[in-house]
This record gives sequence, structure tokens and C-alpha cells, in this order.
Amino acid sequence: MSGGSKQPEVGSNEQRQKGKATPDTLMIGCIAMVQKDGAYRRAEILSIRETKSGRQFYCNFDNFNKRLDEWVPVSRIDFEQDVEWPNPDKDKLKDPKKKAGSSVSKKSQPSKKSQKKVGKREQSVVSEGQAGTPHPWTEFVEGQKKGKVDGDEKGVASLEVGAKGGQAGPDEMDVDEDETPAGAAKKEKAPPAFNREQEIEKLRTSGSMTQNPAEIARIRNISKVEFGQYTLFPWYFSPYPEVFSQEDCIYICEFCLSYYGDFKSFRRHRMKCTLQHPPGNEIYRDDYVSFFEIDGKRQRTWCRNLCLLSKMFLDHKTLYYDVDPFLFYVMTRRDEKGCHIVGYFSKEKESADGYNVACILTLPQYQRKGYGRLLIQFSYELSKIEGKMGSPEKPLSDLGLLSYRQYWSEQIIDLLLGYAERDEKCTIEGIATTLAMTTQDVEHTLQALKMQVYHKGEHKIVIPEKLIEQREKSRAKQRHVIDPSKIQWKPPVFTAASRTWGW
Ligand code: ACO
Ligand code: ZN
Repeated sequence: MSGGSKQPEVGSNEQRQKGKATPDTLMIGCIAMVQKDGAYRRAEILSIRETKSGRQFYCNFDNFNKRLDEWVPVSRIDFEQDVEWPNPDKDKLKDPKKKAGSSVSKKSQPSKKSQKKVGKREQSVVSEGQAGTPHPWTEFVEGQKKGKVDGDEKGVASLEVGAKGGQAGPDEMDVDEDETPAGAAKKEKAPPAFNREQEIEKLRTSGSMTQNPAEIARIRNISKVEFGQYTLFPWYFSPYPEVFSQEDCIYICEFCLSYYGDFKSFRRHRMKCTLQHPPGNEIYRDDYVSFFEIDGKRQRTWCRNLCLLSKMFLDHKTLYYDVDPFLFYVMTRRDEKGCHIVGYFSKEKESADGYNVACILTLPQYQRKGYGRLLIQFSYELSKIEGKMGSPEKPLSDLGLLSYRQYWSEQIIDLLLGYAERDEKCTIEGIATTLAMTTQDVEHTLQALKMQVYHKGEHKIVIPEKLIEQREKSRAKQRHVIDPSKIQWKPPVFTAASRTWGW
């Protein structure tokens, strides 16, 4: 059942002692055979908890993406087969704080009292005691370097269409005390060879593109979220207050994004909550979607809540706790009840690296319906208005890479077909400027699609027939697009000191 050699395997290659375990002796670090998708698979036990319905083990499965890690009950573990015991040294390395032999995490059941306390803090992400201390998110902080990309010749290229080969590839202020955001960076490696099938397969089996090994031990803490009319099943850890991880389900208000561990408090909140759309200016509206611009500094609580929500589906990025330096562009769909969040992207107010997107997310209930494309297009339309070339912050996630590649390819192919029709020559810079993309992203896309050739001393861009066919097919799907003439937006000006609106 396991795929190629690149797939993540649980445990290390070193010899481990084997033997029979029982539900009481099975400990963190053990590798056991655990049922998943109708088969018993090797899985490493990453955590253990006591729940109302009995003991549960958090398993990371061989050859499965981390987002498929899950809590399993005793009944799904095969105790007839030997387990591999953890190597004590390795175990120590993994979690220096953990005492050898302590197999059950010491989380106590949430007392009614503590739940209430959380309810009181409903409007704030942080407890008072955390002010000024590093938030758990800061634990994700890794390198923060600009991804330097290797340059290629950017000469004038002539264009050939239909060549053979290639692959398809009301604004209320909500300012509270100062603290520390959303989005960060790591160096991007040279782009891997582009093979769509392999990449899609990777989605099921591999981890995110650049997974922080220290993060692997992170356990998904929230198992179920009620959000508007949807039930969401989080993929990854998100730093909600610890007491929330004891709940079978948490409730998030789909408008103000405050969160509750029990339904009663949530219901009470819903009776009081008057918000019906994100708390910013509506800068775009068409028949299909609206976009709101929200300043992290002015709407701190709301933006932090958005980051908490999105972290449940974003794994590869460092999330900062300080939302002040970011603007949030939130896409919604309207109905009689209000403007419902579909997705968003965040953007640094000033990006030294020229990024036009820090984090981007389509909520899972809306994924694969073309909303990601709209978010990406919107980010580039803003860059066009700014007169800048932009690029998403690196690293991209697996899904992020697929979506950006798709967007870039479609945009470039459409543009080139236009050039070809008019029999015009084009340059990489010309393409980049027209699309507000960086020349690196243009070049990488051309390379990935095998559209650049060097022939008889001349650089040429070719559009393989197959790509034209694919583009025709995808056009036939008649997706929604952003109408740039409907964007009501001027690049905001920030005072250097506050990085907030320069009134
Ligand atoms: N499998 C294969 N291809 C995919 C997938 C997938 N699961 N998801 C997107 N694509 C590709 C497809 O080519 C798709 O076009 P198609 O449907 O015509 O084939 C194209 O991307 C666009 O798809 P959309 O439906 O417009 O994208 P979606 O609304 O699903 O949003 C997004 C994409 C935002 C990346 C979403 O998957 C998501 O939120 N993922 C979790 C968070 C994440 O990883 N964000 C990106 C991080 S990188 C960064 O923040 C800079
Ligand atoms: Zn609310």
C-alpha cells in the first residue's frame, strides 16, 4: 500500500524492541498497527488522552499526509500484533519535558468553571496572562528569509503557437492592547519538476512542502467545529486556548469569529451578535461575491480570530500572533442572513520582499469550486492598481502551489494567445508587468510548462497544442472572474510609526 520512497514513514529506521502491548501500556512513541480506511496500517502514537468515551490515541500513519492524523479509540488498534517500543533516547529528544514512562497526557477534563471562564473571554483570543509573553504561534517561527530565485535570460522571445510537447500541467474600531501575526516565510527551493499527477498523489500521501520537523509532533487539538451552517473537521493544530482541546466540538460565530466550547454560551452569543459581515470596508461587489478590506490593527480581535480559524487548515506556515502589520481581504457570499466568509488572503502593509499575499485560504466547505482562483486574481488586481509586481509569500503549501500554478498558467497562456493573434513579440518582463506577476514566477511557469525553447540562436516561447486544448476545456467551465472595474480601492497609505491608516 505504500507509495514511492519519498513518502513519509513513521518512526526512524533504527531497530526497535518489539512486543505485545495493552491499552494501558501502549505509550507515546510506540508504533502500532491501527485501522484506517479499511486496513491495518503502521502508525506512530503521538499522544494519548482520556475522553468521556474512553482512552484515545493520536496516530500519525505511514504514508499519509499529516492532515489525516487522527484520534482513534482502543478498538481500532490491533493488540494481537507486536508493537514497536520507542527508543528511550529518541523519545527524550522528541520531548525533553516528558518524563520517561508517562504515557497519558495530564490534561484534566475541563471543569464547568474553566469552560465558563473561556466563555467570558469570548471576544478575545488571548487570556490576560498571555499578554506580552510569546504566544504558541511563535513556536512555529522558523527562518524568515526571502526566497531568492535563480534568474534566467530575459531576452525578447518570439512566440510559437501550437507547438508539440509540453505538459499541462461600517467600520468599528476594535483596538486592544498591544501584542505580537499572520504569515511568514522560509526560503523556497528551486521549483521541482512539474508533474500534476505526482503532485496530486503527493497531496494524499506527503506532508506539506516545507514542513517544520518540530511541528510534526504537533497534535490536532480541535476535532470538530460548528461554523454557520457547516460542520468543519480541522486538518491541523491551531492555538486555541488549551481548554478547548477537551471539547468534542467547538462553536465559532461565522460573523465575529468568536469561539465557544459549549453550545449554550454560543447560542446566547448568537442572540446578541449583530455583525452580519466582516468588520471592514466593502471594496468589491458583484453578483457573486464581495470583498472586504480589514486592517489588522483596527480589528485586532477579529483578525486574530480569523488567524486561529485559518490555522486549522494551514500547516506549512509560521503564524505570528501580531496581526497589526497585515491587511486582510475577506471574500464573502451574500444571502438574506448576511455576508458569509468563503475565504481570505492576508497581505503585509509593507512587504520588503514584494509579496502580495501572506496567507491564502478557502474554507474547506468552499474548496475546489473556483474561489481560490478568485482570491488569487483579486490579489493580482490589487497589485495592478498599486503598479507593482507581486508574488505569494513562500513557502507555498501543496494546495497553494497547485492553485497558483493553475492561475499563472491560465493567465500566461491567455495573454500569449492574444500576442499570437496580433502577431506581436513578447518579453518575459512584458508578461510580468501586464499580469503584475514577478518575472521569476513567469519564468518558472514557462519552464514548468516546457514553453521555453532555444532554437537556432533565438529564445522562443512556444504554446504546446495540448495546453491550448486544456485551456479551451477549462474556459468551457465558465467560471466566475473578478471584474476589475468593480474594485473600489486605492492603495492605503500608512504612517510609518503606526502602520495603520494615515488619516
Ligand atoms: N487537487 C488538485 N488540484 C487542486 C486542488 C486539489 N485539492 N485544489 C486546487 N487545485 C488546483 C486546480 O488546478 C484548480 O483548478 P480546477 O478546479 O479547474 O482543476 C485550481 O487549483 C484552483 O482551484 P480553486 O477551486 O479555485 O481553489 P480553492 O478554492 O480550493 O482554493 C486553496 C485553493 C486556497 C489553496 C485551498 O486549497 C486552501 O485553502 N488550502 C488550505 C490552505 C492552503 O494551503 N493555502 C495556501 C497556502 S500558501 C500561501 O498562503 C501563500
Ligand atoms: Zn458573533
